[in-house]
Amino acid sequence: MKFFVDTADIAAIAELNDLGMVDGVTTNPSIIAKSGRDILEVTKEICDLVEGPVSAEVVALDADSMITEGRKLAEIAENIAVKVPLTWDGLKACKVLSGEGKMVNVTLCFSANQALLAAKAGATFISPFIGRLDDINLDGLELISDIRDIYDNYGFDTQILAASIRNANHMSDCAKIGADVATAPPAVIKAMANHVLTDKGLAGFMADIAKAGIKIV
Ligand code: E4P
Repeated sequence: MKFFVDTADIAAIAELNDLGMVDGVTTNPSIIAKSGRDILEVTKEICDLVEGPVSAEVVALDADSMITEGRKLAEIAENIAVKVPLTWDGLKACKVLSGEGKMVNVTLCFSANQALLAAKAGATFISPFIGRLDDINLDGLELISDIRDIYDNYGFDTQILAASIRNANHMSDCAKIGADVATAPPAVIKAMANHVLTDKGLAGFMADIAKAGIKIV
């Protein structure tokens, strides 16, 4: 499973990228607003840092304007994936932009039917939002599983990009189901390294090292 980082925080992206943990980056208007930076400028900086796809989202609601914005975003760098919302206009924009050879990430997906439409419209990525479904007592992971079945049944090559990931368990659950990509905030990716028994085991080793005076260099 590929790891995308869901942030516009350059330092956080760079830290994970140096460890080989970054296969791509996703942003959305809320993330860009939080960064306090110009969307074109910060997106260019991310594209210069990361080799994989960098999702940048349109802000218009009608298809023609989304297409215009998508073309402008795609000029930033070759690794831009234009992000469009899963509305009828978003699907129209997806069809046109993917037809021009641009990567398109269709976002705000909350049902298997929406994912089916995005694949038919030529999406490179479909972004089902796990956490926001869980927030309203629905099952985000079940949606990932349903989309996996549907795409496999018909051989769609649209990649399932599990989004709205809130904790480290979501990451391993998505990997078990067979999501192609999971995008998560840097803190969630780092939390994957944590285990209470690792901490306990290390504390025990450190105590014995001190007692025995073990040194390597
Ligand atoms: C994905 O592309 C979105 O930017 C993101 O995962 C949304 O996550 P949230 O529901 O935590 O805002």
